[in-house]
Amino acid sequence: MIDTHAHLNTEEFKDDLDACILRAIEHNIEHIIVIGMDEASNQRAIEIAESYDFVYASVGIHPGFVDQGNTEHLSNLLKHPKVVAIGECGLDFYWTKENIEKQKDIFIKQIELAVESKYPLVIHTRNSFTEAYDLIKPYQGKVTGVFHCFSSNVDDAKKAIDLGFYIGIDGPVTYKKALETFELVKNIDLKHLLIETDSPYLAPVPFRGKRNEPSYVRFVAEKIAEIKEVSLAEVIKQTSLNAKMLFNIGGNL
Ligand code: NI
Repeated sequence: MIDTHAHLNTEEFKDDLDACILRAIEHNIEHIIVIGMDEASNQRAIEIAESYDFVYASVGIHPGFVDQGNTEHLSNLLKHPKVVAIGECGLDFYWTKENIEKQKDIFIKQIELAVESKYPLVIHTRNSFTEAYDLIKPYQGKVTGVFHCFSSNVDDAKKAIDLGFYIGIDGPVTYKKALETFELVKNIDLKHLLIETDSPYLAPVPFRGKRNEPSYVRFVAEKIAEIKEVSLAEVIKQTSLNAKMLFNIGGNL
């Protein structure tokens, strides 16, 4: 399994990162992608990726950090051999709509950086799928990536896939009330899905409410297998292949 979205670069992991990484290895996590959100966490993501062979980093400015940060430092970080993507970037209209123009500006800069550098985008949207889609649409064919922790409906997922993007599925798929995510997983082919934890957030059942960690990505994979009525092995095989292709990791395919 590959956890394609983990914030191991946050405070929550400062005391037991090694132990978390060990548990991930014990649970057959083949790779982890550590996701940055601002300049400091981007740097920390790279440090962690340097410390563990099977861990990679993604660097970007999260929409929640656009007021404090800018994208100027990113192109330099993209030269690092363990950096495999740009993000987390995108739009978040749930927390605030007061800085929409700033959010859009910083997101567009990262889309253009992705076009230029050929790195995939790790995109965050919350109450903002349509606006994010509209910003990416002009670059269709020149950029790829994942709509991480996808929280919209099947129609929007199909639009994202048509743009050449993957759909990221996280812990909420295991929650009882996640009917929309259930429908989404049921109706979207495995070849378009990635599994993620978004650690330390959004822990799946049976750890809901606790700190999330990469080894728990198995609960997401198991739920997808259950919903799609396929074997767990099939889910792991296809989502790992998807992640390896998108992020160009794990050697030859
Ligand atoms: Ni995230």
